[in-house]
Amino acid sequence: MKFIKFKNEIEASQYAANEIIDLIKKESKVQLGLATGSTPIKLYEILVKDHNENKTDWSKVETFNLDEYLGLPENHPQTYKVFMDHHLFSKVNINKSNTHFPEQNSINYDELIDSKKGIDLQILGIGTNGHIGFNEPGSELNSLTRVVNLTQETIKVNADKFFNGDTKDVPKQALSMGIKSILKAKKIILLAFGESKQDAIKKLKESIAFDINFPASALALHNDVTIVIDEKAGENIDL
Ligand code: PGA
Repeated sequence: MKFIKFKNEIEASQYAANEIIDLIKKESKVQLGLATGSTPIKLYEILVKDHNENKTDWSKVETFNLDEYLGLPENHPQTYKVFMDHHLFSKVNINKSNTHFPEQNSINYDELIDSKKGIDLQILGIGTNGHIGFNEPGSELNSLTRVVNLTQETIKVNADKFFNGDTKDVPKQALSMGIKSILKAKKIILLAFGESKQDAIKKLKESIAFDINFPASALALHNDVTIVIDEKAGENIDL
């Protein structure tokens, strides 16, 4: 794992945006793995700005989101489909039929990804408990896309960020790509910003093997992972 620390979230997000833009410009077809949450919002803002100013062409891009809540009504503002539409898909020239999410009755998300020659670049965030996607502690290294139970910690964090602090409004389950699904991506960029991510980043830096209690440690097994952080997330960590 390569760690890169930037002064702030904007510069870090610009780095990740450049990687995506370069890939889109270079390849005739690109498969991107995308994340939701507070972390990638700036990245999507930069990608939209770039599309508007430089006309980067998203028509040949296909996307696979990491996860989706279970139990929210369709079009609920906190579904990840609505999140992605709002922050990215409605603002670039992507073909909506090329945007994919794990679906409850589709057991074939991993097969679908494989059939499209896999993910070229996967964007990840990290939970304070070390989850990637919604692979909470206890997730197996060989896990594929499946229904997962969210931990109390994740429910609380997401309630505070997205559900006005009300834990009872946060779904208790989600569909998530598995750890094995994530590790199949050719290249992975994990973003982490702010003080609340310091402990998780420190633990990730120390990871040399898979620890089931800290799912992000699985990234130590992949040969092309870049961890992109801001100064706050990397404070007191020797990189
Ligand atoms: P966040 O979530 O971007 O809202 O901090 C990251 C995650 O849970 O993976």
